[in-house]
Amino acid sequence: MELFFLYLLLIFLLSVFLTLQYLFYKHKSHYTAANLPPGKTGWPVVGESLEFLSTGWKGYPEKFIFDRMTKYSSDVFKTSLFGQPAAVLCGPAGNKFLFSNENKHVTAWWPDSVNKIFPSSLQTDSKEEAKKMRKLMPQFFKPEALQRYIGIMDNIAQRHFASGWENKDEIVVYPLAKRYTFWLACRLFLSIDDPNHVAKFADPFNLLASGIFSIPVDLPGTAFNKGIKASNFIRKELRAIIKQRKLDLAENKASPTQDILSHMLLTCDENGQYMSELDIADKILGLLIGGHDTASAAITFIIKFLAELPEIYDEVYKEQMEIAKSKKEGELLNWEDIQKMRYSWNVACEVMRLAPPLQGAFREALNDFIFNGFSIPKGWKLYWSANSTHKNPNYFLDPEKFDPSRFDGTGPAPYTFVPFGGGPRMCPGKEYARLEILVFMHNVVKRYKWEKLLPEEKIVVDPMPIPAKGLPIRLHPHKMNA
Ligand code: HEM
Repeated sequence: MELFFLYLLLIFLLSVFLTLQYLFYKHKSHYTAANLPPGKTGWPVVGESLEFLSTGWKGYPEKFIFDRMTKYSSDVFKTSLFGQPAAVLCGPAGNKFLFSNENKHVTAWWPDSVNKIFPSSLQTDSKEEAKKMRKLMPQFFKPEALQRYIGIMDNIAQRHFASGWENKDEIVVYPLAKRYTFWLACRLFLSIDDPNHVAKFADPFNLLASGIFSIPVDLPGTAFNKGIKASNFIRKELRAIIKQRKLDLAENKASPTQDILSHMLLTCDENGQYMSELDIADKILGLLIGGHDTASAAITFIIKFLAELPEIYDEVYKEQMEIAKSKKEGELLNWEDIQKMRYSWNVACEVMRLAPPLQGAFREALNDFIFNGFSIPKGWKLYWSANSTHKNPNYFLDPEKFDPSRFDGTGPAPYTFVPFGGGPRMCPGKEYARLEILVFMHNVVKRYKWEKLLPEEKIVVDPMPIPAKGLPIRLHPHKMNA
């Protein structure tokens, strides 16, 4: 009997040894090509993922990038992230390379957890069909298409402040910012306006969003498992809404321009092909995800910086009150008003420079190529990081200083300010985000001044930057609204 257990133990130890050896061998084999970029690749499987993630958890995601730029090269360094051999391309040249070589040298890549929860939507890379559909996306978000949504955004913003902020002395900003952006998205993408119906989506949606960036262990009760279930639930609901809308459009009960869904159903590609129901459901889900936490993080940081910088608040207030005073009683914001919000948008840009909602994104090398004299093998993952330029004194003098005038005139040099990415994969929701942020800024400064309740609140970047307690603030309503 004892011999039997000894035998089992030996088999176990041998298999652990062989697995480790295999992992070490596999890890090393990724880095045998000649002339790879300098850098460290860490342990098999984990690589440098922990350092990459933990600098973010501590609130300094740029540290991972800048430490290695200083140690190895300011243009490109190798590493290993999420079990993958990877290179981080830095500075405007790195950004330009990745943004200009889509489908030539690189294509989008997402970690496994994203693919499992979200099988197709953000993955519009390989299939020809999907590529064609991707070309249609910008049409739905052109400034001309969005102009008619500004009044609706203002109306929802007013209802949001009435229901979430009014008669309160203290509020927590981040959850309210999420509620605002989600309500807008439900209304403008799907014509869901009733707050109760919005709330029905909000819970599964939040589960989905946290599942995407969780550890991908699909067991009952894990965030990942809940995310997959929530994703299936939302897709089913979306397909029911799409079916109903098709009927309503056919019977003239719905308008072709009432929301993004109607646009998607009625737009065809150059061959006269319409998007399938499944594709539309995926696209809408992709938009909901792409726009939710990013825009709410941006709004939360705008509130944070305006609390910390009263002279900047005063300038934003002045600009917005001039617009407010030019309006008739009950008149909603329109396109001309948005054009007058130049200073406010400069402030929002400076906020996104210092606290980019997305820190960067991955690509995969489609073939072997040379970047800056170094070889990048096919299959390697490539990462661009907003911080490599946003917080770099070579491109933004005194980078920690909050200075909205950086965006006056022609603004920062090309490929240095990249909160929305660039090239064909640039965020399709950029203009939509600009409008929802400006409409929010108008409504909030018109009503309140505020102060932070936790002056030293920590920032956690996981993967979006968020004040650890959600940014609790004390509200000081302006006299005319008091
Ligand atoms: C302040 C707000 C926002 C920021 C900072 C932001 C930033 C970004 C960035 C950096 C990317 C990745 C680009 C890349 O892969 O290189 C992206 C992609 C994307 N964004 Fe946004 N975004 C914002 C708001 C929105 C909104 C409001 C929507 C929807 C209406 C949206 C929809 C998307 C989608 C669908 C993608 C994936 C595009 C693709 O892979 O082809 N985003 N966004």
